[in-house]
Amino acid sequence: MPEDIKSVSIQAIVLAAGASSRFKTDRTKMAEKICGREMILYPTSILASLDIPILMVVGYQKNLVEEIVAREFKENISFIHQVEQRGTGHAIQCTRSAWKADDILIMNGDMPLVTTDIIQKLYKKHSTSDAVISFVTAHHCDPNAMYGRVIQADDNIQIIEAKELDGNLEEHCCINAGIYLLKRSFLEQFIDTLKVNKEGKEWYITDLVKIASDNKLKVETLSAAYDRIRGVNDFKELWAVEQIKKSEIIQYWMAQGVRFTIAHNVHIDWDVQIGKGSTIESGVQLTEGAKIGFDVTVGANSSLKNCSIGDRTSLRSHTVIHDSIVKNDCKIGPFSFIHGHSILENESIVGSFVEINRSSMGERSKARHNSYIGDTEVGKGAYLGAGLVTCNYDGFTKHKTTIKNNAFIGGNNTIVPPVTIHEYAMTAAGSTITQDVPTNAFAIARQHQINKEGYAKTIRERNEQQAQKKNSTLSSIFMGATKIDQSHEQL
Ligand code: UD1
Ligand code: MG
Repeated sequence: MPEDIKSVSIQAIVLAAGASSRFKTDRTKMAEKICGREMILYPTSILASLDIPILMVVGYQKNLVEEIVAREFKENISFIHQVEQRGTGHAIQCTRSAWKADDILIMNGDMPLVTTDIIQKLYKKHSTSDAVISFVTAHHCDPNAMYGRVIQADDNIQIIEAKELDGNLEEHCCINAGIYLLKRSFLEQFIDTLKVNKEGKEWYITDLVKIASDNKLKVETLSAAYDRIRGVNDFKELWAVEQIKKSEIIQYWMAQGVRFTIAHNVHIDWDVQIGKGSTIESGVQLTEGAKIGFDVTVGANSSLKNCSIGDRTSLRSHTVIHDSIVKNDCKIGPFSFIHGHSILENESIVGSFVEINRSSMGERSKARHNSYIGDTEVGKGAYLGAGLVTCNYDGFTKHKTTIKNNAFIGGNNTIVPPVTIHEYAMTAAGSTITQDVPTNAFAIARQHQINKEGYAKTIRERNEQQAQKKNSTLSSIFMGATKIDQSHEQL
């Protein structure tokens, strides 16, 4: 018997047509994300990595499921439509015309923690025995868990669904995982002997185990760790599975030389990359393929999504970077927001409460405090003073600001684009810049200051007199009111 599953006649059927009713969302659970990846893609990728051709049974929201799967797997996968969802056995009946291989691997689509190792071991056990059906089991004693229970007595073995089992569920801790390897000849002979369930609504694939056993045909089981075969039928189970997946991802990055100061509240999607020597602080969210270089610090409660962070860059706490590139040796945050496909070149500095949107910052440019920089191209070595606002939007259109190399923008400037501030130009603090500033020019766009000698004293004295007058009026009204109250008491 060949050892390598890749070289044998085997095909897989993945069941993904179910209505996901226990989720109560009007959405197929196959599209629910676990660490940023749709649930159905996890078991599919395990089978794809073993080069097993996949036939997927789709039904409820079939277009969405097909679209998700086709996005990642273009070859070796086909779909079959289960028009009415009448159970896992019925789903298999729908695939009959596509049965080709000697052995058929059937797998639930709602088990995202499954590994190649389990599939390989199941195949090995199946192929080294005469079993017509081999399936995976696990040990789980929770009486509230609605798994099928594997019941063995004398020579007979069967799977009874938890809701249909008479007796104490705690006494039946062997559960059915939802992965089966069957001989095609057995399926062809017995698939039509499945009977409808007690409620008269569904046909169960699990009944094939009893059918084989009743016919004195060999049934094998392979036990696996419960955490690897958990099924996901509601949000509680989804949450539990995501905790496991997340901790696997974090432990993987720890093994690659990444330090987590407080790992348990960090979230990392499956497609994130982190360079060695980097430190990820508490409460960080790394999602949608965020790519972090070597020796980067990601400060507490920062959120990085679909972005790239260069080597040795330091992100202080509460930094948000979405859909943007920050290159090497930059210093960002705390409380910076960089988004809209912005690009920050090497050694940029962006400080607290600075938002950068659809903009670029050249090497060594700085925007240290409280600014909005939108639709702006900043050259190298430019300095943007505190409180800069680029007024890029006129209510209809966005306009571009250009700040060239080594320009200096004074504090509290407002720039009304389209405007170019040329190389080495400076603008005075408090300016509203509406026109281009030539190279080396100094632009002042604010009211001139006038000092009126002694006038502060005049104002102070006037204000004091007015305040005294107001106070004496108020106290006479108050006194009058007291008299009225007293006369009222006498009455
Ligand atoms: C199923 C098993 C149960 C096992 C558990 C493991 C049956 C009858 N029960 O229960 O023994 O312990 O998995 O997690 O098989 N599906 C279809 N078409 C349908 C119905 C379901 O394609 O008409 C798909 C679902 O999308 C899902 C899979 O089959 O991916 C299993 O269905 P689900 O409803 O999750 O079954 P469980 O109740 O979890
Ligand atoms: Mg299930």
